[in-house]
Amino acid sequence: MTPWTLDGWRAAEVRQLPAYPDAAALAAAEAELRTYPPLVFAGEARDLTAQLGDVAAGKAFLLQGGDCAESFADFHPNTIRDTFRVLLQMAVVLTFASKLPVVKVGRMAGQFAKPRSGDTETVGGVTLPSYRGDNINGIEFTAEARTPDPARMMRGYMQSAATLNLLRAFASGGYASLHQVHKWNLDFAGRSLWSEQYQALADRIGEALEFMAACGLSPETVPQLKGTSFFTSHEALLLPYEAALTRQDSLTGDWYDTSAHMLWIGDRTRFAGSAHVEFLRGVGNPLGLKVGPSITADDLLRLVDTLNPANVPGRLTLIARFGANEVEAHLPRLVRAVARAGMNVVWSCDPMHGNTIKAAGGYKTRPFDLILREVRSFFAIHRAEGTHAGGIHIEMTGQDVTECTGGAIGVTDEGLADRYQTQCDPRLNASQAIELAFLIADSLKAERAHRDERAAA
Ligand code: PEP
Ligand code: CO
Repeated sequence: MTPWTLDGWRAAEVRQLPAYPDAAALAAAEAELRTYPPLVFAGEARDLTAQLGDVAAGKAFLLQGGDCAESFADFHPNTIRDTFRVLLQMAVVLTFASKLPVVKVGRMAGQFAKPRSGDTETVGGVTLPSYRGDNINGIEFTAEARTPDPARMMRGYMQSAATLNLLRAFASGGYASLHQVHKWNLDFAGRSLWSEQYQALADRIGEALEFMAACGLSPETVPQLKGTSFFTSHEALLLPYEAALTRQDSLTGDWYDTSAHMLWIGDRTRFAGSAHVEFLRGVGNPLGLKVGPSITADDLLRLVDTLNPANVPGRLTLIARFGANEVEAHLPRLVRAVARAGMNVVWSCDPMHGNTIKAAGGYKTRPFDLILREVRSFFAIHRAEGTHAGGIHIEMTGQDVTECTGGAIGVTDEGLADRYQTQCDPRLNASQAIELAFLIADSLKAERAHRDERAAA
């Protein structure tokens, strides 16, 4: 393999990048971004790699979630707070069920750029460039909004910086106290239409906390109960932006993409010879790779080798997104091939992107039952293969939107129109996301029992 350089990706085949009409304006924006402070420090990215290494080894669980696409218009402290809170609530349930630490990673503070199936969109005989995310162009269907504007990258950076700042404050300032998160879960379980299913689990968590408090372990005495660690991630799609924020770490001399702790490659940009693969193989951050039905085992092994040649546990997370009806047909052979090759990876389940359907009213939606079924199949497959079901990757929000059908409230096809607010794909709302955590607690417990049996044998 040729040695990596910061600009090497420019000579490779690049898909899904906007055609900026003004090359000079693009170059000026890149030059300006290169002078901006990094958003994350390389040492934090290494810390996340180490934590994901525990996930790869079956000793931790990964929870990754947030918007499909963040937007400039929805930039508000409450939306950041509420998404963060729901992720914490889910994490407590998952920790209790698995008896494993949960590594929390937001699709937040930089998740702007979107891959699209077509370069253009035609409405009423008018054809314009597709919307590609707020750091590229505007969602309004006008020629002006849809023209890619490099200055949007600066706004994306500023919004990411402010979002990350608030997340760091919440994570360490007391908002994330375990007792507080448990109170939110109790309140949720009490209000839910499926409350009997959740109350017992919430009560057991409460008892554990009371027992710990009686032993002198409280947020006042144990820092881990008062704060938490929280990381950021996004799809590293807009390469001019990612490259401009990629810096050489002064401690190790290695290159890090400082736009987020973790970056992933989408299902549409992981093909052989891809500029996105070429770029990301050279950065030291932990990486994700989306894996959908079109991938062959050979392609996957080659990609794993390219992205993680030293086979470092935690360096690479394979994010399976097959759909509830396809996962059985594809995942077992891929899990087996990776295991047989002795490759250290985290397997995570994205139950969103393979389960998108068009509802009667024309809205893109995802039925909650399909999402739950794909996660349960993912766990069952890993149990059968003797590998660790390492995590989940979901599109969700802390707001009470109506974008995915089903759940306890039972959002219907007709109900989708009430609060359909997503910038891109349909997200689980706050209740549906927390329900998902409660409903997969059984799968986590089953894996734990299996793990204990193997350890005893
Ligand atoms: C996404 O995560 O929003 C996405 C586009 O996923 P995928 O690349 O798996 O289609
Ligand atoms: Co999406």
